[in-house]
Amino acid sequence: MNADTVPPPVAAAPAGTGVTIVIPTYHEVLSIPHLVERLKALRESSGLDLDVLLMDDDSRDGSEELVESLVLPWVKLVTRRANRGLSHAVLDGLMLSTREILVVMDADLSHPPEKIPEMLAALDEGMEVAVGSRFADGGSTADDWGLLRWLNSRVATLLALPLTTLSDPMSGFFAIRRTTVLAGRDFNPVGYKILLELIIKCRCRRVIDIPIHFDNRRFGESKLSFKEQLKYIQHLRRLYIYKYGTWSHLIQFLVVGLSGLAVNLVALTGFLHLGFGEKQAVAIAIVISMLWNFALNRRFSFSYARHQSIARQFFGFVAACSVGAVVNYFTTLQLWEVTRYKQLAALVGVLAGTFFNFIASRFVIFRSQHVKP
Ligand code: GDD
Ligand code: MN
Repeated sequence: MNADTVPPPVAAAPAGTGVTIVIPTYHEVLSIPHLVERLKALRESSGLDLDVLLMDDDSRDGSEELVESLVLPWVKLVTRRANRGLSHAVLDGLMLSTREILVVMDADLSHPPEKIPEMLAALDEGMEVAVGSRFADGGSTADDWGLLRWLNSRVATLLALPLTTLSDPMSGFFAIRRTTVLAGRDFNPVGYKILLELIIKCRCRRVIDIPIHFDNRRFGESKLSFKEQLKYIQHLRRLYIYKYGTWSHLIQFLVVGLSGLAVNLVALTGFLHLGFGEKQAVAIAIVISMLWNFALNRRFSFSYARHQSIARQFFGFVAACSVGAVVNYFTTLQLWEVTRYKQLAALVGVLAGTFFNFIASRFVIFRSQHVKP
């Protein structure tokens, strides 16, 4: 079956009832028989009316033939040739099913299908999304996770903290209502994290963790490359902008400012080591960090204004920084009189200068000429 020409699926049950399990696959021919076995057992033991949609990105590894040879009416494989990638495969699968409840899971037997009834029960109790979590109380991962993989996964989770209360927002194992998916707008996932995309774009609030044991893959290899991880940062940035609007510009501006501070200190140290005079080193470090901040702010914090004149923006930015420095100076001196903590006065001065810089940058120098709907 071809994704461009797929007829409405699978379902033996009338539209709006039953469960579809959407499983993205790429080179999973070795896992599929075991997966289907587990799902078959689940079907029999739970009596659930469930069918399976394998969303395969044209693996050409025999998956298609294998699924055909199983002749199970409740298992279908869809071959996708356009718009490849894990998130798009999942989204297509969600849209293709007409059933009331949708479950997404990996094909590689990392996710225990036996947990599905628990997830469905949570939806029955009014949850919009139930997420299989490695990090919830009672959840676990197979032991031989290296330190690096563990750290990687924790940092990725931490970065998503302001977006959701879930303990494992990276999870690829979750149950969601079809009505919730259909309420979503502006889907634009990059990379791997389809759950985060759904939670933000469908504005889900009633979400719950279901602890799971995340097993190691038994056959084939993981497709999570370094490139995918970089895409995660890009995806996060989009989601922050979507959810927080101007606040997200401020956050990015502050992160850029902090990085500029680091650049300034490193440059200063470097030029002093190279034997430059103190005044020269300070001046060069300021210029370098200002260029750095300008470039990053133009590229990230205020990327919506990237097509406008760079010369005008550059001189505007330098002017705003200079005025900001003056604001900082006078604020600090004013407070100097009223507190004995000079560092506190300086800190408030820096904050006032930064605030001025942000307002000037956001609303004057990098103003948006067209207001987005
Ligand atoms: N259709 C399609 N297209 N499927 C894909 C693609 C793709 O480009 N890339 C991967 N998949 C399928 C795999 O076949 C597998 O069934 C599932 O997506 C997950 O891929 P893995 O390669 O097993 O990923 P992982 O184990 O590194 O990542 C898992 O853990 C992450 C959190 O640590 C997944 O559950 C991720 O969703 C999760 O974020
Ligand atoms: Mn895996």
